[in-house]
Amino acid sequence: MTKTTVSVIKADVGSVAGHVVTHEKILAKCRENLGKALDEGLLEDFYVTNCGDDTELIMTHRNGEENEEVHKLAFDTFMDATAVARELKLYGAGQDMLSDTFSGNIKGMGPGVAEMEFKERPSDPVIIFCCDKTEPGAFNMPLFRMFADPFNTAGLVIDPSLHDGFKYEVYDVMEHKKVIMSCPEEIYDLAALLGTISRYVIKHIYRKSDNEIAASVSTERLNLMAGKYVGKDDPVAIVRSQSGFPAAGEVVEPFAFPHLVGGWMRGSHNGPLMPVAQKNAHPIRFDGPPRVIALGFQIAESKLVGPMDLFDDPAYDRSRALASEIAEYMRRHGPFEPHRLPADEMEYTTLPGVLEKLEGRFTDID
Ligand code: F6R
Ligand code: MG
Ligand code: MG
Repeated sequence: MTKTTVSVIKADVGSVAGHVVTHEKILAKCRENLGKALDEGLLEDFYVTNCGDDTELIMTHRNGEENEEVHKLAFDTFMDATAVARELKLYGAGQDMLSDTFSGNIKGMGPGVAEMEFKERPSDPVIIFCCDKTEPGAFNMPLFRMFADPFNTAGLVIDPSLHDGFKYEVYDVMEHKKVIMSCPEEIYDLAALLGTISRYVIKHIYRKSDNEIAASVSTERLNLMAGKYVGKDDPVAIVRSQSGFPAAGEVVEPFAFPHLVGGWMRGSHNGPLMPVAQKNAHPIRFDGPPRVIALGFQIAESKLVGPMDLFDDPAYDRSRALASEIAEYMRRHGPFEPHRLPADEMEYTTLPGVLEKLEGRFTDID
C-alpha cells in the first residue's frame, strides 16, 4: 500500500483588526488554490483553517515529505493570499513571506512546516495542533508529558504497545544541530534540554519498538532566519494517536494545564497557553493570551475525515478559567520579568538605545 503524507504548512499573511484573526477571503483563496491542486491530483485532500492571525493549510497527499510541488503549492497559495490581504489592506499583509520567489523548498522562506509520512493503519487517528502568539518550544512540555510522562499517559505503564517508550529528535535552533534521545532511559537528560524552550525544541517523536513516526512539529524561528524580527513563529504539530500511540485523550490531556509560554504581546511576554475551540482562536486581550487549537481527523486512504474540534469541550472550561486567572496575574507585572521576556529573547526592544543614552552616566559602585 502506498504511504500517506500529512503536510501542515502555515503562515501569517495578514489579519483583521491588527494581529487578531485571518480574514474569510484569505481562507477562501487558500481553499480555491488547494481545490485546484486536488482536481489536478497533486493533493488527496485538504482542510484550511486558522488559529488567530495564522492560516493553516492541512494537506494529505502521496508525494512524501519535503515534496517540491506540494511546497510550491503552499508558497504560491500564501503569495496569492497575500495579494488578497494587500487589496483589503489587512494588517501585516504578507508578513511571514520572506521571499517572493520559490526556491525548491518552503523551509527557510517564512512559513512553518510540520510533515509526516506513514503507512496507514486499519484506522489512523491524527490530531493537529495550531498555536498563535507563541513559539515552537511551547510544544516541549506537552509533548514531553504525552510520550514520556506516565502521570499523563497511562498507556506508557499499562499498555504493552507503548511500554517500550519513544525517541525524541530535539533541535538546537541556535546552533542548527539535532540529537536523538531515548525515553524512558534518558528522561532526565531530555527534560534538562527541553526546559530551555527558546533553544531546544522537539522536531519529531518516534515509537522505539519500530521507529514509527508519532509526532512532528514546525520549528522555524522567523526571527533567527531573517536575522531580524519579521513576525513570530507560531507553531503547528501533528500527533498520531491510539493503538500503540497515546490515546486521543492522552494526547490532549497536557493542554489542560495552561503552561507559561513566550510570545504574547510583541513576541516579548510570557503568558498561559489557553486551549480553545477554533471559533475562539482570536487572541485579543493584550494580543492574547496565547492560544492552541486541536483538530482531530481520521486518515482514510489519504482522505481527511473530520475534523472534530477537540478543545470545544466543557471539560476544558476550568483550564480556560485558570488561563484567564494566570493572564490576569501575569499582566499585573507590566513591563517586569517574568511577564516580560529576558532581554535576549525579546522581539522588540529599546534597551540598546536606552543604554546608549546613559553612556557616560554609569559610574563605578564603590
Ligand atoms: C504579532 C503579535 C502582536 C504584535 C503587536 C505589535 O503576531 O502577536 O502582539 O507584535 O500587536 O504589532 P505592530 O508592531 O505591528 O504594531
Ligand atoms: Mg500577524
Ligand atoms: Mg500569529
